[in-house]
Amino acid sequence: MATPKALNLADFRPLARKRLPAPMFHYIAGGADDEWSLANNTDAFARYELVPRHLNDISEIDLSTRVLGADLAMPLILSPTGMNRLFHHGKELAVARAAEAAGVMYSLSTVGTASIEDVASVSAGPKMFQIYMFKDRGLTREFVERCKQAGYNALCLTVDTTLAGNRERELRTGLTMPPKLTAASLASFLVHPHWLGNFLRDPDFTLANVAHRVDALEGGAMSLVGYVNSQFDRSLTWDDAAELVELWDGPFVIKGLQHADDARRAAEIGASAVMISNHGGRQLDSAPAPVECVADMREAVGDRLELIVDGGVRRGTHALKALALGADAVSFGRPYLYALAAGGEDGVTRMLHLFRQEIERSIALAGCASVEQAKRDGLAVRRVGA
Ligand code: FNR
Repeated sequence: MATPKALNLADFRPLARKRLPAPMFHYIAGGADDEWSLANNTDAFARYELVPRHLNDISEIDLSTRVLGADLAMPLILSPTGMNRLFHHGKELAVARAAEAAGVMYSLSTVGTASIEDVASVSAGPKMFQIYMFKDRGLTREFVERCKQAGYNALCLTVDTTLAGNRERELRTGLTMPPKLTAASLASFLVHPHWLGNFLRDPDFTLANVAHRVDALEGGAMSLVGYVNSQFDRSLTWDDAAELVELWDGPFVIKGLQHADDARRAAEIGASAVMISNHGGRQLDSAPAPVECVADMREAVGDRLELIVDGGVRRGTHALKALALGADAVSFGRPYLYALAAGGEDGVTRMLHLFRQEIERSIALAGCASVEQAKRDGLAVRRVGA
């Protein structure tokens, strides 16, 4: 296994790069336009400093917390990401198992390669299903019913992807779903024998939750941009979101909001939480870093909403800064995809272990004994230079 060499989350990226053919690696790594938001999501954490407080009893550290009605062992949610089968034959199921073992919440994407039911059958841990609003509204209602049946804790509506962002790396590498075997792609697959081995172990790349209803996928491979632009509903409004909140009637997350007024609106329609997110820099390039939005959004909604900082989180200290600024939890996508590509379920488990150690060590060094204390002004954070 390659991942014992990894000492932190960033170390999984080069390991994944070695294992993945270029189209798959760049699909994970890439962002929109100039990738400014992508880089800024992580860079923004460096604009804050944690001011340690000492002589507090930190002999016992408690990282547990409650988010979306679920008890978590640490304040982390794995963000929804599509098509995990592209990266490892263990696909979403491997990630869901590792999440359960680490006591964090797992989110399954609408465009996952494992079904709502299959994920529920391998993981009894806290789970959320992420919905894109399809033009076919019947599909959305069907998802709600299936998630209720399968016992999902929460539903998440992603609102920042009614059309595809301009991801030039994907256009250059020509990634399709399922992967197309052409002379060029075959050469790229052959120089990544580990990935090819994965491919041959289970060449099923079906979009498990939508394949039975989406005609556009019939007849072969298509580009991801083509898929999003042909299937997703651009006429999505607050009224639709409110309808879905009512239909689900449980913990409900809106993913992709960044404006304080939108957070207020989300609270008004009865959402339970907002994932403050620019889709990992993959949609509107120039959208602010999620961590820069959290303080204003918290001020706007008080305790009426849970706030999750989604994007750019790579260190335990990043999670702590987010909590100190007003978040209830953080989430990330790329770190677990790189870990999956590098080492399957074991890779994700190791990555989550490293992240937990970092949070635990850093919260203690900052002089705070628990996540709950950190959320109630127990951690001193300030802007660099302020
Ligand atoms: C995503 N993201 C995403 N979001 C979503 O709501 N539904 C989806 O299907 C996907 N798919 C997806 C695929 C890949 C490869 C990536 C990298 C991201 C966005 C994801 O949920 C999350 O917002 C970002 O990944 C957060 O940024 P970091 O942690 O990757 O920096």
